[in-house]
Amino acid sequence: TGKDVFCNNKACVAYTYDDLIMMPGHINFGLNDVDISTKVTKNISLKLPFVSSPMDTVTEAKMAIHMALMGGIGIIHSNFSMADQAAEVIKVKKFKNGFITDPVCLSPQHTVADVLRVKQTLGYSGIPITQDGNMGSKLLGIVSNRDTTFVDDMSIKIREFMTPRAALSVAKEGVDLEEANEILKASKKGKLPVVNENDELVALIARTDLQKNRDFPLASKDANKQLLVGAAIGTRPDDRDRAAALADAGVDVIVVDSSQGDSLFQIEIVQHLKEKHPQIDVIAGNVVTPSQALHLIQAGADGLRVGMGIGSICTTQEVCAVGRAQASAVYHVAKFAAKYGVPIVADGGIKSTGHITKALCCGASCVMMGSMLAGTDEAPGEYFYQDGVRLKRYRGMGSLEAMTKGSEKRYVWEDTKASACGAAAVKVAQGVSGAVQDKGTLRRYIPYLMQGVRHGLQDAGVKSLEEAKESLYNGKIRFEIRSPAAQKEGGVHGLHSYQKRLY
Ligand code: XMP
Repeated sequence: TGKDVFCNNKACVAYTYDDLIMMPGHINFGLNDVDISTKVTKNISLKLPFVSSPMDTVTEAKMAIHMALMGGIGIIHSNFSMADQAAEVIKVKKFKNGFITDPVCLSPQHTVADVLRVKQTLGYSGIPITQDGNMGSKLLGIVSNRDTTFVDDMSIKIREFMTPRAALSVAKEGVDLEEANEILKASKKGKLPVVNENDELVALIARTDLQKNRDFPLASKDANKQLLVGAAIGTRPDDRDRAAALADAGVDVIVVDSSQGDSLFQIEIVQHLKEKHPQIDVIAGNVVTPSQALHLIQAGADGLRVGMGIGSICTTQEVCAVGRAQASAVYHVAKFAAKYGVPIVADGGIKSTGHITKALCCGASCVMMGSMLAGTDEAPGEYFYQDGVRLKRYRGMGSLEAMTKGSEKRYVWEDTKASACGAAAVKVAQGVSGAVQDKGTLRRYIPYLMQGVRHGLQDAGVKSLEEAKESLYNGKIRFEIRSPAAQKEGGVHGLHSYQKRLY
């Protein structure tokens, strides 16, 4: 059982995911019968146990929208000004699948040159023209590729050549996606503006998105059918204002982001959040021991984030000599927190679907991923090539580059500017900056992760995450420790060369 592996060791050995292997169980159910729905906090349920990390190379609105559409949740990072972070949350809450709610608009006074600039820099054609050039103002027309084809003079005003309002097909606000798609098909146009009763532009639908405008049956939504989203804050006094701005923006869960969560600063801010914003669930952390967990549970945490110094970009264990091997950390904290009904998010160190399955079978309710998601289309930043490989940048929030943008507060709890002998002026990095390989879109990657986890649970003979938790303690799930040679044997070996495609 989990107890045999994790608790019967007087030498205090802690294990990583790679140290462990699960024994196969008996299969008497189909792959698609495996239910991996879960809770990320006491009050928030998800169809999939996947959370994207609050890092500035991982989760902004686009990632959070797609994580929620696919059935997980994204936590918006806090290397933003308070207002900008709240604006990212609003983008997620306002998101309507298939509807572009912040299209680039121009006014009739703009010129051909402006149209070409938008086309060249953003790649859009089919630009709505509104009275003042903004969303929410009266719709006066559209400029499409065709309208500009024969115009040579760059200074000609849009009003001279746009397709006017009278010639446009539009949809009325409140239209559902299916109806809108029908109107778009019938109109044979590239774009369908959606207007309110005052004929003001409220959204745009693009023909090129038609394929993508399918349903997302697993989407994580609140009672108002808006997508769920989380956001990170720190533990400094001004983070209380940040939390208030996020609450106004409609955030569903706040993650209090510290690398060592068992501090008075964190306890106080968790208590404050629960008192001032009781409607928002709070995930506290990070912790790796039951005694750390106890302090945060007593402060009112609705979920705990587990992991210290084991992330792919972390140097905390090397720099600070503190942390814990992740499988042991997850097992011990999850077992303890289960007594209080507090779910665990296993944060960091996930490199494969096998690791996710092991985290969940060690008692985690969800996994939080950084490097696994940083190379997807939905992560911030552009792809670039290095040695012929397509990459995206990925950096630790404790790297020097990220800390200068604000994330220092995750690692340093007080303002140390005034301390003695100049030492305070030295920033100590606890992370590195690098790059990860292109993973394509979450629309394909998340289903791959989901099916990988289902295969793992099926092989272990458990039909749901609920059952996995019980099985951890009753012996149905059995782990063994792998020797270094066994770990080598469990990976690809003995080939001269090979190709690894994930799906
Ligand atoms: P993965 O392995 O998924 O880890 O890339 C992501 C998690 O790592 C943590 N994190 C850091 N830890 N120094 C650290 O010690 C850092 O610079 C750093 N940046 C992120 C964080 O918990 C994240 O979710």
